[in-house]
Amino acid sequence: QMFTMEKRTVKDILEGYKKVLHHDITVQGWVRAFRSNRFIALNDGSTINNLQIVVDFENFDEAIIKQINTASSLKITGEVVESQGAGQTVEILAKKIVILGDNFSEELQKTILQPKKHSLEKLREEAHLRFRTNLFGAIFRVRSAVSFAIHEFFNKNQFFYIHTPIITGADAEGAGEMFGVTNFDLNNIPRDENGDIDFEQDFFARKTSLTVSGQLEAETAAMGLGRVYTFGPTFRAENSNTTRHLAEFWMVEPEVAFNNLEDNIDLAENFLKYVIKYVLENCKDDLEFLDKRFAEEQKQKPEKERAKEGLIEKLEKVAEKRFKRVSYTEAIEILMNSKENKKGKFQFPVEHWGTDLQSEHERFLVEKHFESPVVLFDYPKEIKAFYMRLNEDGKTVAAMDVLFPGIGEIIGGSQREERIDVLKQKMKEMHVDEDELWWYIDTRKFGSVPHAGFGLGLERLVLFVTGMTNIRDVIPFPRTPKSAEF
Ligand code: 4AD
Ligand code: MG
Repeated sequence: QMFTMEKRTVKDILEGYKKVLHHDITVQGWVRAFRSNRFIALNDGSTINNLQIVVDFENFDEAIIKQINTASSLKITGEVVESQGAGQTVEILAKKIVILGDNFSEELQKTILQPKKHSLEKLREEAHLRFRTNLFGAIFRVRSAVSFAIHEFFNKNQFFYIHTPIITGADAEGAGEMFGVTNFDLNNIPRDENGDIDFEQDFFARKTSLTVSGQLEAETAAMGLGRVYTFGPTFRAENSNTTRHLAEFWMVEPEVAFNNLEDNIDLAENFLKYVIKYVLENCKDDLEFLDKRFAEEQKQKPEKERAKEGLIEKLEKVAEKRFKRVSYTEAIEILMNSKENKKGKFQFPVEHWGTDLQSEHERFLVEKHFESPVVLFDYPKEIKAFYMRLNEDGKTVAAMDVLFPGIGEIIGGSQREERIDVLKQKMKEMHVDEDELWWYIDTRKFGSVPHAGFGLGLERLVLFVTGMTNIRDVIPFPRTPKSAEF
């Protein structure tokens, strides 16, 4: 199958070379380096590895040789031969070279394409060019593999992929973090006699926003299709400038009829392990590169802050070991009694049952106390969303958060409140408008069943598997309160 296509990638050639040895082939890509006017390292994005092209300059115009430069794009035809060089299987003896795109050498000097080490900040400023680097090539190939593995996992487990709306009238999290959507002329917003925005004149004739979560719609789909999942962009107008938050991120949300909280935790654990194993098996070259980068980064840090294990080692461990399952109440006990808390080491001291956990607390539990991924469950109802199922104690809800080392919360989910009277009471207490969510309440009237689901932030998982530390580096064009350059 590898060679059915007319156009061959570098990956095809490097991995399937036995079939084309001593044949002429054509390959296209970008020059990563041109050594001694003789050896081109060609990359086309299909793999982190470069293909070596040997140019016997006596056979070519000097004009062509001169144009071969870092970043220029080439189409090369030549014979595939075994390579003498260490660490490479084959190389191409060039017979024909076509320059597809020249580079503007002087301007190149000012960009991240200039071959030297650039800071991640600088690379971020040129997000449109960073796909050309080894690091971002690796990250975005891994991100693609993670996405594919997610679909594969659900497909194998009889889930249906549901597309929930991007434009919606519902605040699914009830947290008021929505970006509004209108077709108003922004320079001339219609107002009523009180000076309030007159949504009746809008295209949708009501207040609409970009979705913060597809969950509520996914729940309605699960009430007919059984097992569903969404996988799409979500938006949060929260002003948090951290290395873990984006204003636009991709979320994966399975929703399963007849599942309870324990089933939901099992699903989350199996799901994460499946995706991590998939990446370990299918992204070996990129992971090796990222593993080396990770190790070098650790060396720059003071000894106390260094990771105890390598990236690949860490992934292998997480894919095998059972996650710790701990109730919120147990976690609070652990935190309150910890040395850190007593010595005032936390920025937010843990003083009583009922407080929300900050990321410093989550990371303490995961990285110091348990040294394992942790699933926290049964949170106080006051600090969680209205739709979570009230437990027998009347104080907690059947919520679950999965916490990962170096990341903190990677998944948030719950068993849902399927009892209509309890749901309505909860909505009243939490000031969620019943009229806005009439359709959601409707699903509790006609054959309501226990059900559960969760949301995974795709970028947080990609951070974990690539060993990167800033969420802006694992999405091609990050949107944060301070940047939406492109
Ligand atoms: O915990 P959250 O807000 O839960 C929900 O939205 C539920 N409706 C999910 C569900 O039960 N179907 O978000 C879920 C996950 C978080 O655990 C986190 O990984 C990610 O989404 N996330 C963000 N990722 C990047 N930037 C942000 N601003 C994020 N907010 C949440
Ligand atoms: Mg959450």
